[in-house]
Amino acid sequence: MADQKKVILSGSTVTGDLTLGNYIGAMNNWKSLQEQYNCYYFIADLHALTVAQDPKQLKERCFSFFAQYLALGLDPKENTIFVQSHIHEHAELSWILTCLTPMGYLNRMTQFKEKSQKHVKNINAGLFTYPVLMAADILLYQADLVPVGEDQRQHMELCRDIVTFFDNRYGEGKIKMPEAYIGKQGARVMALQDPSKKMSKSDDNEKNFVSIIDTPKKIQKKIKSAQTDSDTVVTFDKEAKPGLANLLTIYSVLSEQPIDKIVAQYEGKMYGHLKVDLADLVVETLNPIREKYEDLMNDKAYLEDLMEQGAIKARERARDTLKLVYETTGLIYRR
Ligand code: TYM
Repeated sequence: MADQKKVILSGSTVTGDLTLGNYIGAMNNWKSLQEQYNCYYFIADLHALTVAQDPKQLKERCFSFFAQYLALGLDPKENTIFVQSHIHEHAELSWILTCLTPMGYLNRMTQFKEKSQKHVKNINAGLFTYPVLMAADILLYQADLVPVGEDQRQHMELCRDIVTFFDNRYGEGKIKMPEAYIGKQGARVMALQDPSKKMSKSDDNEKNFVSIIDTPKKIQKKIKSAQTDSDTVVTFDKEAKPGLANLLTIYSVLSEQPIDKIVAQYEGKMYGHLKVDLADLVVETLNPIREKYEDLMNDKAYLEDLMEQGAIKARERARDTLKLVYETTGLIYRR
């Protein structure tokens, strides 16, 4: 039976380029789950519209993100990889769920508060209802698990609340209650120049993030100039040495070594030594990804073909859920 494996779903919003934070907090886990689960990974282009986008750039970025997913090692044969806007059911389910979601719940979302501070001139309703669209993304595929970074925890809780609202109104058992899957380590990679905030692909200061397709020279420069403190002894202390703790976390995830062991290796050495080695490790990890990405971007027809195949597979599951939701809510379903 097709459905014996549990279903995983996750996505990333099409802004900037994927960062080391996305890789460590999310995609690295996605890759390791692809054999065990029935995985749906999509690029969230509708979510990107909540901030002003240049149409040409958005289109190019959709291809770029798709290529980045593939370059990261997501196998289009093992996974269903697709573009959100290609499946119109996302928007339809989102509307139905919007009508079940109290404004008060959306008002509490910290990401909405942060984003409305950042985009004061464009606080649109989409920015406010963004988490409902995210819930629709997940529930449409009846996902069991959603691998995300720590910053999406609140949105995941809201998604679970929305399932409860649906159950309370229409009866239980129609929509699966999903769970967040948040890695133990690296679930929150911090900005390189300001370790009090998360590394974000939409950061205005490029020095705050390493993009997964940065050149080796850029990577070296960004890691070496990462903000640390004025002490010299390498120890892991998130409170007193947040910048260093961030670098150690990245080191640990990429090298698959426990932090203690890394700290021991740098006994008697300076922060600079650690930064040089970490920069080499990041380059070594990301170089093959960038090379594969560049190859893929030279063949848009191939990417378009894969997008189409992904959409065909995704649509099948999305339709089944939407049909069930239409029937449950009293709407007349038509293909
Ligand atoms: P996005 O595009 O901001 O991030 C994609 C994934 O990367 C994780 N992440 C991080 N993890 C660790 N450290 C960081 N600094 C860091 N920055 C980002 C995010 O937690 C996320 O898992 N709303 C989502 C996209 C989305 C989605 C969905 C995700 C839309 N619908 C349905 C899951 C399920 C977003 O903007 O992620």
